[in-house]
Amino acid sequence: DSSQLLNLFDFEKLAVGRMTHMAYEYVASGAADEFTVRWNRQVLDAIKLNPTVLTDVSQIDTSTSLLGLDLPYPILIAPTAYHKIMHPEGEHATARGAGSAKAVYVVSSFTTTPLEEIAKVATQPLWFQIYVRDDRDFTKALIQQAEALGFRALCITVDTPVAGVRNRQDKALFGLPDGVNTPHMYGGLAEKKPFTWKDIDWIKSFTKMPVLLKGILNSDDAEKAVAAGMDGIIVSNHGGRNLDTVPATIEALPRISEKVNKRIPILMDGGIRRGTDVLKAIALGANAVLVGKPICFGLACGGAEGVTKVLEILKNELELAMALTGRATIASIDPSVIWK
Ligand code: FNR
Repeated sequence: DSSQLLNLFDFEKLAVGRMTHMAYEYVASGAADEFTVRWNRQVLDAIKLNPTVLTDVSQIDTSTSLLGLDLPYPILIAPTAYHKIMHPEGEHATARGAGSAKAVYVVSSFTTTPLEEIAKVATQPLWFQIYVRDDRDFTKALIQQAEALGFRALCITVDTPVAGVRNRQDKALFGLPDGVNTPHMYGGLAEKKPFTWKDIDWIKSFTKMPVLLKGILNSDDAEKAVAAGMDGIIVSNHGGRNLDTVPATIEALPRISEKVNKRIPILMDGGIRRGTDVLKAIALGANAVLVGKPICFGLACGGAEGVTKVLEILKNELELAMALTGRATIASIDPSVIWK
């Protein structure tokens, strides 16, 4: 009953029964003992808000601009793999859902739908996420293909030189069902050829798309990203799926924000489930946030409509959080909204 889908947690509860056990375990699980998965939520929950009263909140404006795009609200769809195991329409449905919600969809290089098909149905900007593989010609051709299809930015995921300890996923005997494949990716993640800052310079040399590094937690790496001419960074711990016991992203964000000092935009993902979470991330230095698991569960529950609904609920909650803290615009959300 969709009248019972009132917040992002409700989607996960319904999705459990809608997905195969294997697919649910794949989406919901994190690395090893899942400390980081829990911390992403717990640290956000523990942050208290410090509202301001009697300001004019009759017009709440959630719009913002990011890398040349005007966004109606600062929430993007994080890249997640294998949408066809969550819903038969897969990335097709995600793109249509993002379109109705007017959100940017960051397509994973582990998409189970060809990029050209996604580009055909998208009505909002698409970004592309890439894992750099041993075969650099393959990587280059793929980036150029995304650029030619009109993808608007490139996110290079840098936190996954190897996959993490995925015990729950392994216990569920995770594997792609027959008929589902990844047309733009081959093999597992084991790499023989090192992937380092030199490769980042190389990618910058042949693409005109803005380039973001996804998976920054260390402020020294953030400084290196600025020095390397990156157009943005995504503070991310991969939703707690790679290295367990790294901090919650909301904990890493303030020092990265201080180091970057507004030279390039900062995005953040990990545990964003409520409008107040979006507000907290913006207050602590994020220009925008991404959501991963809730989109997968929205897709599983209701295809394109489910994806749209997840985004609309989160946007609506952000508006309420802004009104109730006395912040009518995104620019007015500053650290003073956090209770110290
Ligand atoms: C991911 N994530 C991810 N990241 C990436 O760069 N490429 C990918 O292919 C994937 N695949 C993927 C699959 C699934 C099922 C999940 C849940 C996550 C990580 C993702 O982009 C993002 O960093 C986290 O999901 C954000 O945390 P939340 O919102 O899921 O808590």
